[in-house]
Amino acid sequence: MLQPNHRAWVEIDLDAIVANVRTLKQLLHPATALMAVVKADAYGHGAVAVAAATIEGGASWLGVATIDEGIELRQNGITVPILVLGATTAAAEAQALKEYRLQPTISNLGEAELCQRVGTLAVHLKLDTGMSRLGMDWRQGAGFIQKVQELSQLQLVGLYSHLATADEEDASFVRVQHARFEQIVSQFRSDFPYFHLCNTAGMLLDPSMHYTMVRVGLGIYGYAPAPHLQGLVPLQPALTVKARISQIKTIPPGTGVSYGHRFRSHTTTPIAVVTIGYADGLPRGLSNQVQFRLHDQLVPQVGTITMDQCMVDITAVPQAQVGDIVTVMDNAQNWAHILHTIPWEVLCGFKQRLPRLLRQRNKNLSPPVSKIKR
Ligand SMILES: Cc1ncc(COP(=O)(O)O)c(C=O)c1O
Repeated sequence: MLQPNHRAWVEIDLDAIVANVRTLKQLLHPATALMAVVKADAYGHGAVAVAAATIEGGASWLGVATIDEGIELRQNGITVPILVLGATTAAAEAQALKEYRLQPTISNLGEAELCQRVGTLAVHLKLDTGMSRLGMDWRQGAGFIQKVQELSQLQLVGLYSHLATADEEDASFVRVQHARFEQIVSQFRSDFPYFHLCNTAGMLLDPSMHYTMVRVGLGIYGYAPAPHLQGLVPLQPALTVKARISQIKTIPPGTGVSYGHRFRSHTTTPIAVVTIGYADGLPRGLSNQVQFRLHDQLVPQVGTITMDQCMVDITAVPQAQVGDIVTVMDNAQNWAHILHTIPWEVLCGFKQRLPRLLRQRNKNLSPPVSKIKR
């Protein structure tokens, strides 16, 4: 198989994305749509290729955070409906929504009026049922919907809300948000084709919250949102980070490695220099705490991770050679645990300096789909 000719890169298994969407769809009523959330460059996986893979897997909507993310998808031939999850605050943005057939999230009358001015536009109204982020306070939800209904240019396509605690073990506040949302939905059931409340965690938690659409991010990338939701369905992580060995040396006992000498060898130790560092998105906070994979063996990373390189102790792999490929990360959950963060942040942390190489159905690695600039 062709090997990529790079110092370090991200491999995306598009078959895993397709399979994850199919798996998640099986949990839904056939009439319930799956919106694949591909914001932030598809959580670092590459938005255009992932969007196409999710559609192949059965997603019929896409969710992005910004208008530019939506435009990138449109300019690369994606035609399914796209919801912009972020706010619309400027007239030029409303114009772009219209031009690129993107559907905005409307959380207040100001946004609604801004959108009304550009002519006919399909929109989703958002209620804040307890996230305290975007959305009209649910207590004012009914009045808000009625006022927006008076704006003749706006086609009400969706009413939605976002869960704040669906990945916590205590589901009690999810019930509160569901009840608040349901109270408004029950008054306007025939006014919107789509009602949506669930992220991945909500979707796994309770089918009665699926309504007519779910907005799924983390699950399509192959992760359960919390340990207690793991194993409910088989999901495959789609992103792997790889780099190469650029030099091998043997250091005598007592030799310090990297800045600050925060690792010192106890014995004569073979060390490999690996071509990835914190400027690529390998967090410096992982220094001396993480293991990479080389020739199917785990090898400990040693010494402070530097901007472009880091070192590993390759005692377990005497056959290692310069040019060998090192698997730096294939499970974001492990890093999230060490870094006291969440897999979402780990996945979004790999920088553009790492090319995204796409793998699909026995095809060799291919360069990423080109991005057409506005
Ligand atoms: C409004 C909204 N819906 C859905 C999602 C998808 O969430 P998840 O990745 O947990 O499935 C997100 C992600 O943050 C979001 O902001």
